[in-house]
Amino acid sequence: MSAETDDLIAQARAAMAKAYAPYSNFLVGAALRFADGTVITGCNVENASYGLSLCAETVAVAKALSRGRRGELVEVAVVSSGDAIVTPCGRCRQVLNELAALGGTDPMVWCSGADEVRALRLSELLPAAFGPDSLA
Ligand code: THU
Repeated sequence: MSAETDDLIAQARAAMAKAYAPYSNFLVGAALRFADGTVITGCNVENASYGLSLCAETVAVAKALSRGRRGELVEVAVVSSGDAIVTPCGRCRQVLNELAALGGTDPMVWCSGADEVRALRLSELLPAAFGPDSLA
């Protein structure tokens, strides 16, 4: 694992510290790295109306798009307060795919647990994805 990836995971952990998860007490942090080196992070944001809760990856992607980012997504890190490796939920895979597809990249997703990290390409997490091109 490169020093850049180590740093990305560290930034996801720092974002996780800001998680608002009083209902599940399951804290999640995500960090997106773009081709120019920019890192944009997110944490999960829960709601008293449980079903309205937002995942860390979705928050990070919304921040990125709202800052004008369109593609060039090269790496993603996801961490949680649990021991097990955390992989993005199905909705987050789709949300990540939208941003990645805009730049035609297949980012590595570093899924962290307490003792190990699993590297999975987004295309492995979401094969045969429906994306912007599917609407053509
Ligand atoms: N969560 C994420 O933030 N990302 C995922 O990919 C999986 C789940 C959050 C949602 C909820 O706030 C908490 O983890 C428990 O499901």
